[in-house]
Amino acid sequence: MDNYLIQSTLNDVSEAESENILRPTSLNSYVGQEKIKSNLRVYISAALKRCENLDHVLLYGPPGLGKTTLAHIIANELNSNIIVTSGPAIERAADLAAILTNLNTNDVLFIDEIHRLNHSVEEILYPAMEDFCLDFIVGKGPSAKSLRLPLKPFTLVGATTKAGRLSGPLRDRFGVHARLEMYTPDQLDIIITNSANILKTKINNDASKEISTRSRGTPRIANRLLKRVRDFALVKNGGDIDLNITKFALEAMGIDSLGLDTTDKSVLMALMDKFNGRPVGLDTIAASTNEDANTIEDVYEPYLLQIGFIARTPRGRIALPNAYKHFNIPITKEANFQLDIFTKEAVNEDDII
Ligand SMILES: Nc1ncnc2c1ncn2[C@@H]1O[C@H](COP(=O)(O)OP(=O)(O)OP(=O)(O)O)[C@@H](O)[C@H]1O
Ligand SMILES: [Mg+2]
Repeated sequence: MDNYLIQSTLNDVSEAESENILRPTSLNSYVGQEKIKSNLRVYISAALKRCENLDHVLLYGPPGLGKTTLAHIIANELNSNIIVTSGPAIERAADLAAILTNLNTNDVLFIDEIHRLNHSVEEILYPAMEDFCLDFIVGKGPSAKSLRLPLKPFTLVGATTKAGRLSGPLRDRFGVHARLEMYTPDQLDIIITNSANILKTKINNDASKEISTRSRGTPRIANRLLKRVRDFALVKNGGDIDLNITKFALEAMGIDSLGLDTTDKSVLMALMDKFNGRPVGLDTIAASTNEDANTIEDVYEPYLLQIGFIARTPRGRIALPNAYKHFNIPITKEANFQLDIFTKEAVNEDDII
């Protein structure tokens, strides 16, 4: 009965809310990213000791690695309020000015997707970040006057998946730069076990290990796969998650032993087969796989690069021998020639057809 109640209550919780309940709220419960955590601990405790604001923090890395989660944790650890907004949501300079003037001392302002701020909005941020003031021009022509409005000291936490798109002046105004790394299967294993506990689902070690190796180094994917496997377990296995039901569910979702899904496969097949191992530009890959180029670049490519399945060359993306091996695709002479020129990773003559 208890189980049933818990189950039905949890099923009512929407996906977004359940992502929230799975979010760790302190640095101690945030798994992995050890270097970032240990440095942040120092900066945060120094700021608290000095009763000053923490310097501005830029968090960057592929989607789902924990940037938003970390921004909230920083505010929690500082015992500060967090005000959340995002680059595309701030359309006009006046919108940002209104947000900034309403901040209290040592508040955290979190701007997600900060690379999407438009230029006029960004200009307002420079003096705000550096000198805690807003610069205005009042009037026009010879009678125009410049006014400075002081702000309370605050901490800006910016998050982006594309640090390279940030303008130099904005990037330089962040005192702390943290690049989030992909997680190891062992770290994901811990995250999955913790999430299963929160979701009141029983999962055995083999099953959580299996999910962790197929989660592409990404906690969001680990949690998503856990929730889907949990659905299969409830309907087909009485609720408990074991290795059998996990394999069955992952197979049903089209996720292979390395966590690659149908889009990864079609990207790799395009490189290996359709274009016969030649380097291919992002837009061409997008067109031939019917996927959005940005999605391929942000979501699919980081993991394929990480596991050594593709490389970036000046002429485009190229599939590496590991990818051919995984899909059992023979490397042709032409493909091997391309590998030699662009990556110096050509295989032995005996292994090609
Ligand atoms: N270090 C971690 N420990 C435990 N859980 C984590 C960790 N990092 C992320 N998660 C989980 O992964 C989910 C996604 O994380 P989050 O939303 O912070 O990613 P993000 O980097 O902001 O992604 P995006 O770029 O798409 O905004 C969170 O709900 C959280 O449960
Ligand atoms: Mg986020």
